[in-house]
Amino acid sequence: MEKKTLAAVAGLVAGTLFAATKGRERLALSRAKHPGPGGHVRMAKRIAGQIPYYAHVDERFFRADGCDASVAARRRAGFERLAALYAERFPKTLALTAETREGLSDLQFTGRYRVPFPFAATVRQHLPVGAFMARADGAWLTDLDGNRFVDLTGSYGVNLFGNDFYKATMREALDSAEPLGGVLGSYHPAVADNVRRLQALSGLDEVSFHMSGTEAVMQAVRLARYHTGKRRLVRFAGAYHGWWGEVQPGIGNPVPADHTLTLADQSEQTLAVLGKRTDIACVLVNPLQALHPNRGAPSDSQLVDSARTAGADLPAYIAWLHRLAETCRANGIVLVFDEVFMGFRLAPGSVARAWGIDPDMIVWGKTLGGGLPIGVLTGRAALMKRWRDDRPVDICFARGTFNAHPYVMAATDAFLRRLDSPEVAALYDGMAERWDARAARLNALFAGNGLPLAVAHLATVWTILYTRPSRYNWMLQYYLRAEGLALSWVGTGRLIFSLDIDDALFEQIAARIVAAARAMLADGWWDGPVATNKQLKRQALKESIGARLRGG
Ligand SMILES: Cc1ncc(COP(=O)(O)O)c(C=O)c1O
Repeated sequence: MEKKTLAAVAGLVAGTLFAATKGRERLALSRAKHPGPGGHVRMAKRIAGQIPYYAHVDERFFRADGCDASVAARRRAGFERLAALYAERFPKTLALTAETREGLSDLQFTGRYRVPFPFAATVRQHLPVGAFMARADGAWLTDLDGNRFVDLTGSYGVNLFGNDFYKATMREALDSAEPLGGVLGSYHPAVADNVRRLQALSGLDEVSFHMSGTEAVMQAVRLARYHTGKRRLVRFAGAYHGWWGEVQPGIGNPVPADHTLTLADQSEQTLAVLGKRTDIACVLVNPLQALHPNRGAPSDSQLVDSARTAGADLPAYIAWLHRLAETCRANGIVLVFDEVFMGFRLAPGSVARAWGIDPDMIVWGKTLGGGLPIGVLTGRAALMKRWRDDRPVDICFARGTFNAHPYVMAATDAFLRRLDSPEVAALYDGMAERWDARAARLNALFAGNGLPLAVAHLATVWTILYTRPSRYNWMLQYYLRAEGLALSWVGTGRLIFSLDIDDALFEQIAARIVAAARAMLADGWWDGPVATNKQLKRQALKESIGARLRGG
């Protein structure tokens, strides 16, 4: 009897202690989350599921901010002028785009998310954006109608050295891979050179080749889990690591990513959690977050007001990453630098190494493929191993039909060999200062012209910020296209420059951006009633609630 009581008391105490520990863990975890929507991915997804569709059409399209009739008339005239210009200038490109859209899911998706959804239907109807280009030469793209645009799309980040550079690497690959052709399984000799060069660039022991950045990230996480025996992966709020479900919890992913923790970047509480928890296999770092810590990539479809901010305190970010690396090392967590985007863009190789950090794994992609699709994982030998000597059947399987494809390997080799050339070295020489000066120059032009704009940037990755509260900032992308500037589907959220852009061309680009913004200013889009960003957000929220009450 006494024994039973004792056991019950011991059980109660153990249970209470367990509950207290769990409670403390949960509290620590919630403190390590960023308070913004990027930090609360499940809640953001739940809210997204509640927002109904509604559209601003006719007069409402021009007066969503409650501007007076004369401003609305100026906006309408500007909009109609642009629409006429698009129709006249891009007939063939737009006709083929319209014809293809129905059968091409991706085109339908990007077309829907260029601007905030209440405005999208009218914009799509009158200012459709051509999806086709016929030619690239240097920093210029030519559409099917012969219009030339300066390429600010950066091909999602692939285009680092200029379009001509990749034409050359792909042409060279075509020649050198041609004797072997599409044979898979055996390697083209370029593979050997790539392995050697990537070992040197990463400072890591082994390399595996994949077909995309997403896949290489998957492999990094899978191996980290295999070797640590832990399941959780940590990503930082807002950071993109490809579209695999487990690195994309929340909006965009139809199922919950239960093993993913989204923690705050540059946070002491995050370091505390990483220092204590015993279930974390790896931490993923995307150095691009230095430009917008704890937030997702800026897209014009989110421009409901002018609250977009960006800007890097690089020394502080780097100092924190050093502490992150120490914490991971001390607690047996695999540190993965995802350099798919920023690798080679911030330094002639690894960003982590340029910042004095030695991660356990580095993921590469985009520009490394010399214009062809690639993902690469480099890592410490002990982590890259896909079997256990003492448990030979317990393997970590990873294959991929097209991994190390001869043409991709030859183009990658052409890319890596050119890194050693004096021409490429010259592009990196003084790069940070050059792009800082160019951003400062454009900001001075904005200020000098009384334009409510500013740019923030991390080297060649730029984002346009809006300094006067407005609901119509997304219109700028249409004025920019009219000035012959090609943008990606996220519009002014991300301009990606290639390093072959010289000072003279930059001046031209700056002049075009200023001309576009001046036209937009003259057309009244920034002349709405004086309001704060908070008020504009509230306006949009009210519309949403109204639509919901109407049965949306
Ligand atoms: C940092 C980062 N990781 C991974 C990926 C995914 O690469 P991919 O689109 O080649 O699958 C991207 C793509 O934008 C990226 O920027």
